[in-house]
Amino acid sequence: MLGDFVYSNPTRLYFGENALDGLNQELPKYGRNILLTYGGGSVKKSGLYDEIVKILKANGKNIIELPGVMANPTVEKLYEGCKLARENNIDLILAVGGGSVCDYSKAVSVSTFCDEDPWDKYFLRMEDVSNKIIPVGCVLTMVGTGSEMNGGSVITNHSQKLKIGHVFGDNVFPKFSILNPVYTFTVPQYQMVAGFFDIMCHILEQYLSDQDDNTSDYIAEGLMRSLITSSKIAVKNPKDYEARSNIMWTATWALNTLIAKGKSTDWEVHMIGQAVGAYTNATHGMTLSAVSLAYYRTIMNYGLKKFARFAVNVWGVNPEGKTDSELANEGLKCLENWMREIGVVMNIKELGVTPDMLEGIADATFLLGGGYKKLTREEVINILKESM
Ligand code: NZQ
Ligand code: ZN
Repeated sequence: MLGDFVYSNPTRLYFGENALDGLNQELPKYGRNILLTYGGGSVKKSGLYDEIVKILKANGKNIIELPGVMANPTVEKLYEGCKLARENNIDLILAVGGGSVCDYSKAVSVSTFCDEDPWDKYFLRMEDVSNKIIPVGCVLTMVGTGSEMNGGSVITNHSQKLKIGHVFGDNVFPKFSILNPVYTFTVPQYQMVAGFFDIMCHILEQYLSDQDDNTSDYIAEGLMRSLITSSKIAVKNPKDYEARSNIMWTATWALNTLIAKGKSTDWEVHMIGQAVGAYTNATHGMTLSAVSLAYYRTIMNYGLKKFARFAVNVWGVNPEGKTDSELANEGLKCLENWMREIGVVMNIKELGVTPDMLEGIADATFLLGGGYKKLTREEVINILKESM
């Protein structure tokens, strides 16, 4: 393990079919005014909304509703939430939904008492929070982002054509999250598999970096193997509780800071994917799947040993008599086969990208350099072209 680090994760998780009972333990810790945030209606359809309102009322809470949090939440919606939270003296934001609702709630939590434009402060200038933070709790209904146990918050600004994530510290992590795998059964197949790829991508962004021997990488390999096994089952039978519960738990550990400890991390696929998202408003996981293979082919030779290890330890490729280069290629082939098997989008054209957008997408892509190779703008363009 290289470097010094601090590990702290203050999010309390309630997991399993009875996880919602945890709300009764958590609610008494907060004041009366609850801002209930949710998306476009799936929680009403599933009946979860009614269940939660009942629990809130039984705990004597005053509910202020904030519906309509869209996938890829926008900066305009953020301003709306801040106004509502300020006017109603909110004690707790309860997010019921997927990563978008959780991310959004964290953004409202840090922005309500921000004395300047939160977009400028947190997303353009990446500054820390210096004002009061409203606590957030989550009831997760869609798996993938890890937002239920991390400080990430991704906001889209359509007029500036930017989609930017701020990774806040553990003072912004949800105070608690309710994880009931059954809630994910109603997620449409397209969203479900996008979430599966998002999980894989989060792990790879942290795994494919550095040359040393690191415990974090062994944990990452185990998480990937679990995801591969369970995802193949879940695409055939989305109601398989064992598979969906494994995936839900894997997603949380894939991005709750654990497997990044003692390592540098890459995140370039996310940078390209978010830029694609800013131009198309496409589903997050699909923006990643559509560019990943071209990206990995571009950087593979700079981290050949790790790509070879990925093939052997994650996909079970037999290394006998093979060069690192042959193994690395086989590993990527296995990744591609799995992507096709679960049915993710394999090109950006399908997401609505047209050739005239490529230059703009490249400009909106932050070049980070934490992985095996820092990309040039030219290489981003080539990756985008290859991904068409
Ligand atoms: O709005 P509703 O009606 O609820 O429908 C949602 C939405 O349309 C639907 N859905 C969610 N749970 C459902 C369901 N439909 C039926 N049954 C259920 N149980 O699914 C659609 C997508 O939901 P969304 O929350 O947008 O998906 P996801 O969880 O993938 O979140 C995506 C957002 O998270 C950000 C992404 O950039 C994107 O904005 N990310 C957040 C990260 C973090 N906090 O660390 C990291 C990730 O890399 C990612 O960038
Ligand atoms: Zn992601």
